[in-house]
Amino acid sequence: MRGCFAAMTHVLKIEVVIPEKERNKEEMSPNGKASPLIYKVNGTARHYHLEEHPIASNPYHNPKDIVEASVCHVKDLENGQMREVDLGCGKALLIKESGEFHAVGHKCPHYGAPLVKGVLSKGRVRCPWHGACFNIGTGDIEDFPGLDSLPRFQVRSLSLQRTKMMAKCISLSNYNLSSTNVLIIGAGAAGLVCAETLRQEGFSDRIVMCTMDRHLPYDRPKLSKSMDSHPEQIALRPKEFFCTYDIEVLTEMQVAAVDVKTSDKHLKDQENLCKGREIENVFNIRTPEDANRVVKLATSKNVVIVGASFLGMEVAAYLAERAHSVSVVELEHVPFKKFFGERVGRAVMKMFENNRVKFYMQTEVSELREQEGKLKEVVLKSGKILRADVCVVGVGAVPATGFLKQSGINIDSKGFIVVNKMMQTNIPGVFAAGDAVTFPLALRNNKKVNVPHWQMAHMHGRIAALNMLAHGTEISTVPYLWTAMFGKSIRYAGHGEGFDDVVIQGDLDELKFVAFYTKSDEVVAVASINYDPIVSKVAEVLAAGRTIRKRDVDARAAAKHSHGVLGRAGPFPLIPLHTLLASPFLFCFLHPPYAASQLPPGLASPTHRVCL
Ligand SMILES: Cc1cc2nc3c(=O)[nH]c(=O)nc-3n(C[C@H](O)[C@H](O)[C@H](O)COP(=O)(O)OP(=O)(O)OC[C@H]3O[C@@H](n4cnc5c(N)ncnc54)[C@H](O)[C@@H]3O)c2cc1C
Ligand code: FES
Repeated sequence: MRGCFAAMTHVLKIEVVIPEKERNKEEMSPNGKASPLIYKVNGTARHYHLEEHPIASNPYHNPKDIVEASVCHVKDLENGQMREVDLGCGKALLIKESGEFHAVGHKCPHYGAPLVKGVLSKGRVRCPWHGACFNIGTGDIEDFPGLDSLPRFQVRSLSLQRTKMMAKCISLSNYNLSSTNVLIIGAGAAGLVCAETLRQEGFSDRIVMCTMDRHLPYDRPKLSKSMDSHPEQIALRPKEFFCTYDIEVLTEMQVAAVDVKTSDKHLKDQENLCKGREIENVFNIRTPEDANRVVKLATSKNVVIVGASFLGMEVAAYLAERAHSVSVVELEHVPFKKFFGERVGRAVMKMFENNRVKFYMQTEVSELREQEGKLKEVVLKSGKILRADVCVVGVGAVPATGFLKQSGINIDSKGFIVVNKMMQTNIPGVFAAGDAVTFPLALRNNKKVNVPHWQMAHMHGRIAALNMLAHGTEISTVPYLWTAMFGKSIRYAGHGEGFDDVVIQGDLDELKFVAFYTKSDEVVAVASINYDPIVSKVAEVLAAGRTIRKRDVDARAAAKHSHGVLGRAGPFPLIPLHTLLASPFLFCFLHPPYAASQLPPGLASPTHRVCL
């Protein structure tokens, strides 16, 4: 899958050179550092910028785009090894697999993780931080998050005279498709990846995205981790991008009803929709404006967070240093109990308490008290009264699918749109993706699940687009999630719903551990702090369709099964993970519900074309 428009204009030759005098011995210069002839870019830009990488240009015609550098001896790398090689003006990731060398960009285009610390398996490298996967032969992104692929460089071994082909440029030829319009409702990760994939695959007719947001698609997970970011700082693509690829984005536009028979969509301007909040200073963080405002109001003030959810805890962590006090109110007795289990939840809670966050557990809010319209106190069912200048509600997200009620599209009892493995709804030509859907998860025997993760939304968008173009592609991915608090990242892969045991290796108190979530005898999910790249490793094993048994990760269970994977018990990793590794459309997304409809401007009129 060519997942980006970027990084195809740069050819970087990495010559794995054998010096003349040593050629017969197949030995190379011991000088690990390259001596570049000419070097231009290293392709590690966090996001694609049009002015840097014009898509239509021939990637190889400019000799200034080429650096030839001798980087190592062919024998310096074993099969299955990766190495960052320095070309003098930048780096590349050199990989040897099955006797062949490959070279790609060394930094993950998502948040810049060093891919050399990731996991190499069967032709792809998985990022150690949030699980994005890249094909080592082409640099293509194969799993998410992130929108861009890696630059691919040429590797030439002079001894073997082996020269690889360059990555193929994206085809922008017209796609032979009878449908002419794609409407994408929602400009989140799923919607954006869908639109980009359509263009990447050659769809050349009209694509319109509409969003209730005021902004072009942005990095939503940053709202609770970097709360004072401006929208431009977290934009996923610059606005020129949408013009260049002719993706129309209608901002502050709500679809209020859909008629799938006539393909009519009823739009209305967002401005008319927002009702004033009953009490000021109570927030639900969905937009950069929400996040910015909370930071402003919370500085040196008392903050109450309702719900120890991912969002609630990230906001609590962010505000802990800035606010006078931060209190978290939660129904359970430890945070994340259902998701990470009791012991991990408790360890995380301790980290928060060490950072001045107070918890009010096994209770809930009974009243928000105001004075002159402004929040003053939060009253708990336990009777406790908390002083509050700002309240952030981190519970109760529901899919905003109310506007589809009359559409005939299958919605389940919780409000999620039901799709199959190709992200198709029950209505032909109508697809759905992202937080708002339930879909069959191959990893859990095709159980229909909702996985509200950033990575999953990307993948859904991609699969939906491919199937709009009749590729017949079924979703096959391992859910991957991360969260970050007080400088610690928790990574998580798999689908642990209904786990019945947690096997922990490492030290919970030190927050340096891996936790395996098991159901019966099988590992269904994994979480870690400070244990990279274990989560990416497990994700790769699961992605390869392999099963990890409890006895493979649990010394006690292994002792009971003397014929376990290794036939012995011992400290983690019991399982030799590396050996396992060897072996007219519509989208709808999660958002708080809004009022019902009126007749639209915009899409109904083919002349209404907005390009930002
Ligand atoms: C603060 C925050 C932090 C998060 N942190 C993480 C994290 O660390 N890791 C992680 O994996 N996930 C995280 N998530 C979850 C992640 O952001 C979501 O899984 C992802 O955004 C889902 O993408 P989506 O495209 O399905 O929908 P969304 O990103 O929710 O986008 C929905 C889009 O649909 C539009 N829309 C909805 N209804 C209508 C309508 N009727 N008419 C027009 N437009 C409509 C909205 O305006 C919006 O553009 C976080 C979420 C939030 C809110
Ligand atoms: S930095 Fe690689 S997936 Fe996020």
